Amino acid sequence: MLTAHDFPSAHVADTSGIDMILVGDSLAMVALGMDDTSEIRLEEMILHCRSVARGAKASFLVGDLPMGSYEVSPEQALESAIKVVKEGRMQAVKLEGGAEMAPAIRKITTAGISVLAHIGLTPQRQNALGGFRVQGKNTTGALKVLRDAVAVQDAGAFGVVLEAVPAEVAALVTRKLRIPTIGIGAGSGCSGQVLVQMDMSGNFPPGRFLPKFVKKFGDVWGEAQRAAEAYRDEVKAGTYPAVEHTYPMPKEEYEEFER
Ligand code: KIV
Ligand code: NA
Repeated sequence: MLTAHDFPSAHVADTSGIDMILVGDSLAMVALGMDDTSEIRLEEMILHCRSVARGAKASFLVGDLPMGSYEVSPEQALESAIKVVKEGRMQAVKLEGGAEMAPAIRKITTAGISVLAHIGLTPQRQNALGGFRVQGKNTTGALKVLRDAVAVQDAGAFGVVLEAVPAEVAALVTRKLRIPTIGIGAGSGCSGQVLVQMDMSGNFPPGRFLPKFVKKFGDVWGEAQRAAEAYRDEVKAGTYPAVEHTYPMPKEEYEEFER
């Protein structure tokens, strides 16, 4: 699984044989420059979901429910999920939270919309968690991760994202569940993996903080910067546009025009 947030990033993921595309609310930060994910609204997520849907032909599409669009009640969660599917053209939704979100997951899945759960480090609750911290590092925390995983499975989730939990805990949770786990910062013992595309493709400015679990598989930012600089240089030097970039005109026509 890989994230996408617009037509081109969806196209890249889809044609690369990525099984599932997540339109994650991380797009608030990596694509819109917001400080965290709490600012983004459901309508804004839906615009991005629709553009991703246009760029993806084969991948299974999951859209994030943003903060504030599902916590109030199971009814609110279902209404938001319906919008993400109908207006955002997604095939499933993802929401953050464990046992406490079981009623919302049950409500949505009972209505026929598939839900991917997300437990461990849940970024929408970063303020309550005291920042981006590893979850389940001690026995009590690990037991909470396991109980949350079982709770979302029992509520009908088709899978669960495990974010920033020790690899041993994630592996054990994966063995205990019937549904697949999708890890991010959770080691190789999960059923699958997810990363933010802008992070793994190196599409971010130099010096930005990167979580420990991110591997930079490319340098998209550097390539875009190189292209912009080369363009600037060639325009200033007068070497771009060259003759091959121009539209020809029959000589007689030009002479007539000049007269
Ligand atoms: O918003 C997001 O991109 C996510 C994934 C990293 C799991 O929730
Ligand atoms: Na998210």
